Amino acid sequence: MRVGVLTGGGDCPGLNAVIRGIVRKGVQEYGYDFVGFRDGWRGPLEGDAFQLDIPQVRGILPRGGTILGSSRTNPLKVEGGIRRIRENLAKQEVDALIAIGGEDTLGVAGRLADEYGIHCVGVPKTIDNDLSATDYTFGFDTAVGIATEAIDRLHTTAESHMRVLVVEVMGRHAGWIALHSGLAGGANVILIPERRFDVEQVCAWVTSRFRASYAPIVVVAEGAMPRDGDMVVKDGSLDSFGHVRLSGVGEWLAKEIERRTGNEARTTVLGHVQRGGTPSAFDRWLATRFGLHAIEAVRDGDFGKMVALRGTDIVRVPIVEATAKLKTVDPALYEEVSVFFG
Ligand code: F6P
Repeated sequence: MRVGVLTGGGDCPGLNAVIRGIVRKGVQEYGYDFVGFRDGWRGPLEGDAFQLDIPQVRGILPRGGTILGSSRTNPLKVEGGIRRIRENLAKQEVDALIAIGGEDTLGVAGRLADEYGIHCVGVPKTIDNDLSATDYTFGFDTAVGIATEAIDRLHTTAESHMRVLVVEVMGRHAGWIALHSGLAGGANVILIPERRFDVEQVCAWVTSRFRASYAPIVVVAEGAMPRDGDMVVKDGSLDSFGHVRLSGVGEWLAKEIERRTGNEARTTVLGHVQRGGTPSAFDRWLATRFGLHAIEAVRDGDFGKMVALRGTDIVRVPIVEATAKLKTVDPALYEEVSVFFG
């Protein structure tokens, strides 16, 4: 058996741990051969591949990023893309393909399996934790840890200067990172894409925090929008998903808070820092287990499936279950956390 592996979409701490888990178990227990495809779906599309074996995965467990490289190439949007993938898989004598990625990468894997009979298994990946059908994705815990540490540090500068500090974290469509890091970091306001916010209410929380002689920390997800949505200026350019790029809700919000409350406000945009560097112990554990179970699914010929975490068990679900709908923050959970606002 010869198995191809690829990583697609944004990089994410834990990708290398998955690759290592797949290759170690596949070689040691099943005697399989492996091919690494470079840069997500670009690899099988262009036949860009290399031999993957135990020496290539040695020492990569704690390393961020991905030794396979990544891209957001979507072969379904390329003329003759499916045919080229088939040809290149045949050329490499690949019997099965493990795709590690988020909504887009897995969406392709699901369609290749269901509609074209290509032997694909999926592994869910995103720091945003917004994939359905799995309790957690690896990378999320690391991102939350990084954001929480940043919030902890920003508390001291906020207190020293009695300023408002707005921290913008990742999360275009779901507020999981904002919610978890905001709670863990003791933020006074948390704003998420799932719930449009009222700037006046944010200013009221900020003011009440100052009244209690503390400096407020506002955590805002990059995709959060004010109630009257036209207030966030868009610069018109498209991001790598083809979405209109927001011009920075964090910057905008800090200016609004200053203007409306008269308090000094600053913004910190954490950006790709949240995706970089070494994975947390939890993410290494989860990613490794995903890798071990993905190669087991290949051995069982259980294609069109994705490995997923349910409680403490790793299960298999149809890939389409994970990609059909994003997992967003439950309003009741947001309400629960909002007791700390203000
Ligand atoms: O999906 C992960 C993610 O990090 C999002 O939180 C963020 O909006 C996006 O990727 C950024 O993508 P890029 O690195 O392509 O700008």
